[in-house]
Amino acid sequence: MRVGVLTGGGDCPGLNAVIRAVVRKGVQEYGLEFVGFRDGWRGPLEGDTVPLDVQAVRGILPRGGTILGSSRTNPLKNPGGGRNGIERIKDNLAGLGVDALIAIGGEDTLGVATRLGEQGVPVVGVPKTIDNDLSSTDYTFGFDTAVNIAMEAIDRLHTTAESHHRALIVEVMGRHAGWIALHAGLAGGANVILIPERPFDIERVCAYVQHRFQTRFAPIVVVAEGAHPVSEDLATAGEQLDSFGHVRLGGVGQMLADEIEKRTGKEARCTVLGHIQRGGTPTAFDRVLATRFGVHAVQAVHDEAFGVMVALRGTDIIRVPLADATSQLKLVPPQRYAEAEVFFG
Ligand code: F6P
Repeated sequence: MRVGVLTGGGDCPGLNAVIRAVVRKGVQEYGLEFVGFRDGWRGPLEGDTVPLDVQAVRGILPRGGTILGSSRTNPLKNPGGGRNGIERIKDNLAGLGVDALIAIGGEDTLGVATRLGEQGVPVVGVPKTIDNDLSSTDYTFGFDTAVNIAMEAIDRLHTTAESHHRALIVEVMGRHAGWIALHAGLAGGANVILIPERPFDIERVCAYVQHRFQTRFAPIVVVAEGAHPVSEDLATAGEQLDSFGHVRLGGVGQMLADEIEKRTGKEARCTVLGHIQRGGTPTAFDRVLATRFGVHAVQAVHDEAFGVMVALRGTDIIRVPLADATSQLKLVPPQRYAEAEVFFG
């Protein structure tokens, strides 16, 4: 059996750990052959491949990024030359003698995998995203690393904020889901955490900031890039859309810093963590989770259990229908946010 592997969407620490586990187990235990597809769905769409064997995956466990490259190419929107993208992928897989696909990605990449599965392509999904917003899995790999990076940044910002009696705003990733903001904010002892699921009242944020200034400490506000005020428009850096139709966000942190300065008279500065959250080596948690996902994904291929995504449920890795995982995003429930609110101010 010849198995194609691809990594799509925003990269994230642990992708290489999945690829390594898939290939090591697949070759050594099942005698499978692998072919890597370059840059997410662009690879199968254009038949762009890279050799993938045990030698190719040696030494990559701790490496960030992905040896296969990634992109946000959407074959459902980019049919290329007028031909249907799914048909092109099917033709290319047949031409390359690829019998099954392992797609490692988030909602967009796995959304395409779901469609391909429905069209008869044998595909297994692996849940990746620093945002942790994929349904049907307790955690995605990459999230723990992103949270640890953001937590460390918050720890560092506390001391400089106190020295200068400033409010410091930390903008973290999270377009629709505030998991990174919530976890990093809780772990880093932020005084306010703002998430997309819960539009914020700027007056209330300023009251928390003022309250914090009455102590010898300084306020730290953690804001997810997709958070927005109750009464104003979403802050965006521009109108650029990717091929999945997502607006490129950014700007809410600076907007908050400006408003806080204006309304409280205190100095406020913004730090945007951006892609630092996605780069570099994965934590031990993510290495283990990614490795286990890889092992179970290739097991699913071997069992010919297609149309599924491997998922973490408690401490077990299970198989769930791809369609369930991609039908809606996993947002922060109100009660989880309420647990954090006691620490505000
Ligand atoms: O989906 C992962 C993610 O890092 C989001 O948190 C973020 O909004 C987005 O990707 C940024 O994507 P890009 O690097 O393509 O601008």
